[in-house]
Amino acid sequence: MTSDPLSARPDIDPALFREVAGRFATGVAIVTTVVDGEDHAMTVNAFTSVSLEPLLVLFCAEKVARFHDVVLDTGRWAVSILPDDMRDASEWFATRGRALDGQLQGWPHTRGPATGAATFTGAIATLECRTHAVHDGGDHSIVVGEVLALETPAPHAAPLIYYKGEYRSL
Ligand SMILES: Cc1cc2nc3c(=O)[nH]c(=O)nc-3n(C[C@H](O)[C@H](O)[C@H](O)COP(=O)(O)O)c2cc1C
Repeated sequence: MTSDPLSARPDIDPALFREVAGRFATGVAIVTTVVDGEDHAMTVNAFTSVSLEPLLVLFCAEKVARFHDVVLDTGRWAVSILPDDMRDASEWFATRGRALDGQLQGWPHTRGPATGAATFTGAIATLECRTHAVHDGGDHSIVVGEVLALETPAPHAAPLIYYKGEYRSL
């Protein structure tokens, strides 16, 4: 009997999947939102542009992350695309269980005019978004945002790269 090449392959090793997916080199960004004056933030590399008309981008948020429910509630968020000298910020905003109070201290930031969410002064570029759609993505949600505003605070900085589970520079 021949196997159906389109059928699900539950026998794939998750470690191999991570290794293969990790060979897609990405940038690194911090997504932020604010609720009742409290800042929330999370490091992501599952970020991409989606559409030009309308202007849409997406990021994927793990459902168990604290950031997940907060950003779905606020519906407004900002993305700061990181330069390679903000690796420490990437590591900090990927640290589960860190105190939320004062968590942005240490990295100069401002408030996006369209969302009130924090954007980092050292970022190569920033986007402010309103949630356009949320799709189920297994253990993640795929959060699609309509772009409300764009800035390029540090347009000539070298980008932070994530490849094979490690940070790199161009
Ligand atoms: C380089 C890098 C990229 C990451 N990308 C994502 C991502 O795209 N989506 C996601 O949900 N988590 C991603 N994470 C993990 C989250 O940043 C991490 O789980 C974070 O601590 C969640 O924060 P919270 O639970 O305090 O909200 C990434 C971590 C690193 C180091």
